[in-house]
Amino acid sequence: MGCANDGLTGRVIMDFNEDWFFVRYGAMPDGTTRGEPTGLEKIEIDLSGWRPITLPHDWGIEGPFRAELPNETGKLPWVGIGWYRKIFEISETDRDRQIFIDFDGAMSHAKIWLNGEYIGGWPYGYSSFRLELTKHIRFGEENVLAVRLDNPPNSSRWYPGGGIYRNVRLVKTAPIHVAHRGTVVTIPEVSAKKALVRVATELENRSGRSVHFSVKHEIFEDGKTPVKVAEQIVFEGVVASAKLSIPACLITLQNFKRWDVDSPNLYYVQTSISQGGKDIDSYRTVFGIRTIEFFADRGFLLNGRSLKLNGVCLHHDLGPLGTAVNKRAIERQLEIMKEMGCNAIRTSHNPPAPELLDLCDRMGLMVQVEAFDCWAVGKKVNDYSTLFAEWHEKDLVAMVHRDRNHPSVIMWSTGNEVQEMVSDDHYNPERSQQLTDIIRREDPTRPVSCGCNYPDAGFSGFQKTVDVFGYNYKPHLYERFRKENPEIPLYGSETASCISSRGEYFFPVSDDPGKGIGGDFQVSSYDLYAPPWATTPDIEFKAQDQAPDVCGEFLWTGFDYLGEPTPYNQDKTNLLNFSSMKEREKMEQELEHHGGDIPPRSSYFGAVDLCGFKKDRFYIYQARWRPDLPMVHILPHWNWPERVGKVTPVHVYTSGDEVELFLNGKSLGRKKKGSYEYRLRWDDVIYEPGELQAVAYKDGKNWFEETVRTTGPAAQLLLSADRSEIYADGNDLCFVTASIIDRSGLPVPRSDNLIEFTIDGPAELIAVGNGNPASHEPFQARKRKAFNGLCLAVIRSFADQKGMVTLNAASDRLESGKIVIMVTESNDRTAEE
Ligand code: GAL
Repeated sequence: MGCANDGLTGRVIMDFNEDWFFVRYGAMPDGTTRGEPTGLEKIEIDLSGWRPITLPHDWGIEGPFRAELPNETGKLPWVGIGWYRKIFEISETDRDRQIFIDFDGAMSHAKIWLNGEYIGGWPYGYSSFRLELTKHIRFGEENVLAVRLDNPPNSSRWYPGGGIYRNVRLVKTAPIHVAHRGTVVTIPEVSAKKALVRVATELENRSGRSVHFSVKHEIFEDGKTPVKVAEQIVFEGVVASAKLSIPACLITLQNFKRWDVDSPNLYYVQTSISQGGKDIDSYRTVFGIRTIEFFADRGFLLNGRSLKLNGVCLHHDLGPLGTAVNKRAIERQLEIMKEMGCNAIRTSHNPPAPELLDLCDRMGLMVQVEAFDCWAVGKKVNDYSTLFAEWHEKDLVAMVHRDRNHPSVIMWSTGNEVQEMVSDDHYNPERSQQLTDIIRREDPTRPVSCGCNYPDAGFSGFQKTVDVFGYNYKPHLYERFRKENPEIPLYGSETASCISSRGEYFFPVSDDPGKGIGGDFQVSSYDLYAPPWATTPDIEFKAQDQAPDVCGEFLWTGFDYLGEPTPYNQDKTNLLNFSSMKEREKMEQELEHHGGDIPPRSSYFGAVDLCGFKKDRFYIYQARWRPDLPMVHILPHWNWPERVGKVTPVHVYTSGDEVELFLNGKSLGRKKKGSYEYRLRWDDVIYEPGELQAVAYKDGKNWFEETVRTTGPAAQLLLSADRSEIYADGNDLCFVTASIIDRSGLPVPRSDNLIEFTIDGPAELIAVGNGNPASHEPFQARKRKAFNGLCLAVIRSFADQKGMVTLNAASDRLESGKIVIMVTESNDRTAEE
């Protein structure tokens, strides 16, 4: 990034997250209501009662959980009004600069004032936006920025968080500069040896005069030491107008490296504006060279190679950290998804934080960026439907302009399960067409899709309004869709929605998808249970295998998320998913049956839980999505003292094709996967304590082995960390897992001891969690009960404080655990424009 120090030229991008003050009004966390005074935008106000805060900040995750709050939005107090305020100086030497503020996202209905003057806002909490401050800045003096946010109740179907939950930057530029999101890099031609890179550039000239300047693009191969591979002057001349579109230039790269999921090679264009021999602006655009093609009869092709989308849907929260963006926390989520074999993310049901796309570019994950969960016909009284008429085009343009240069982005989605696809009064394929057309106009290089749950949407004509058709939970319709729409590529935009709690198993085991619901609001982890609209993974896999032209799937979901704890989703919104009134009624009755007290606050849909601990389901996907990785996974655990002599089914997931199961050394038989079989089952095992061993084979050869043992009683705590070294940048995180183990070191599956953490050294403990969807224990605490043997502690570094950090974990009657991590030299992990 250009960062000149002469005070007059160059682009300066400043992290603007520090030194804010915050206060809440309206619905308060304790259930009371606090009246909002007028005049909070003024320069001089009384700041007593405001507290210092560093962004990104999610005011809802601070809790407390309250029983009477809706399950579907996590029982957390995210509703209400929040004010943020920041005092900052802008030097006299900046007088000739343009000053902008960039919000990556503020939840929601943001209104912003500078020095008491209203400068603008943006209501949709998931859009990134820029405001210009120049006119109202007091150069050489203090300036006051005031931000008002307002989260109305009934505005979301999941936990949206509240606050300025993404990063904020202050950007200073010379009067002549590359416009906001002003570069478009595309690859119009690519062959084995060369690629044609097309760069279109928009400039702004705010000087109000005719100016002589030149513009140059340099292309670098990205990496630790970037290598320049091309350079071109694309403009030289005099410009008087305020805006200038530089005709797109074409640059040929020989022997280039492609971006692919296994080799995510990146390039960047450095655009420099120079005036009188001096560089006055410099702007970086990261891009990758890859081709994407979707065919109705051949599926999806990346770089000409056929590839199934092994995708997951992700909501934006980061579990116990809430929605406050943290790059390392997102990276960890993506690492766990990659370990499962996932190669694609659907950002359900909204544009993501920019950090997610930067990471996907670098990690080799493909992304479908989705715009909305509803259009003009809402699902909740105060949801996006209230904004649609005025804002949909601005929000779509903001999404596409921000994200169109990312090689990871392979598809856009205009919406999810919108009511306009349903054949009733709301049916409105024209609306779908309009939204598709807006996106095509802004980015002709990627297909547009929409997630459709309504069966007829694939046949009514609605399917013709998108480039690639996505079915939510309709594996039984793939074949018919293919027959009736031979021209339209198809994929599963949402699949499975199987539900389970990590480490919970209920008996007798039934194959009825409506069963499997047990005491304490948990769901059995045999991966056989799903709400009426959903299926087991096995059924989706079979449908995909029977229709090989389908481009793949996006499993609902990769991670458990805050809110929507189906089947304990007291709120009726979820019933929208039911396609028949009869099913709706059945579910309503089931919910009534529990009465008012339904504590669950996070979902059961994830392949991993809210803390990132793997559920059994992780392994059925890993077995399918990583066929070359030798693995076997046995379920359930083998600690069932109350089941001696009773039938206790054993299911095994493997990337092999055959397994022999042994109980205490005795073979229970060798089984081979039949066609369309994705798990091996021994449903009549009689429980006896000891050792279960699965020996897997592939093509008749030994492939992998796994053993599960009955453990002794809980004896000690074992701490393990995702990384032994983190950076002293004030953002980096270490995720520490506390496992309860027996004397011989085996994790004890059913233990729930209360664990207390103490930390010593230059880092802080910022959150704890355990993956139990029904727990109301706070995330921001020093102690936590384990859930089925595991507990998570999240540690964050302080800026510029290096050294050794020790985390201790203690629990009554257990031997304590301890782990040491190092906090080292800071590494710049901040987002680039
Ligand atoms: C879908 C919906 C998702 C989620 C899911 C749960 O119909 O698109 O947002 O609600 O159901 O199964």
